Amino acid sequence: MKAIYPGTFDPITLGHMDLIKRALNIFDQIIIAVAENKIKHPCFSLKERVNLIKEVFADDKRIDVIGFNGLLANLVRQQNCNVVLRGLRVISDFEHEFQLTNVNRALNPEMETVFLTPDEHFASVSSKIIREIASLGGDVTQFVHPKVEKALKKKFAI
Ligand code: COA
Repeated sequence: MKAIYPGTFDPITLGHMDLIKRALNIFDQIIIAVAENKIKHPCFSLKERVNLIKEVFADDKRIDVIGFNGLLANLVRQQNCNVVLRGLRVISDFEHEFQLTNVNRALNPEMETVFLTPDEHFASVSSKIIREIASLGGDVTQFVHPKVEKALKKKFAI
């Protein structure tokens, strides 16, 4: 059974990776679907985000990485995969996720969303916080894969 894990991943964090590791105990294959998400004005381009995740999971054949710029409800149909994976870090995530799930269900009634919680060490981590730390020259090694750290250093020319 496969699941789609959508997100902006600007950039992917160890929190996301922890969630994926847990999901692989349940699903045989995970499709990481990177949303273009122009509303968020991502720091890394869609191509950069997709390539970075491909590099990070290069040795794991259970992971596919794709980019998309339409509705998640349509992507799910195109990929012939009705299960979407999302993470819940803290209680405040729930309200937003509840709304997303209900809207997605209205757009595509076949779709089901499965929630997992990452390790509590990553409960306060977000891509935005990591970008901020990296842009100010801080150490992000405990939050991101070394390849992501390298990409952040290059992006912010540290
Ligand atoms: N570890 C670390 N950080 C995590 C995390 C985890 N396990 N889980 C979530 N996060 C972070 C993300 O990095 C992100 O941080 P940021 O805001 O600093 O970038 C934040 O928590 C979650 O942001 P959110 O906006 O809820 O989700 P997202 O950006 O990851 O993805 C999409 C949102 C892509 C799923 C959603 O916008 C989408 O489906 N877009 C497609 C268009 C569409 O269908 N729209 C209608 C949907 S109703």
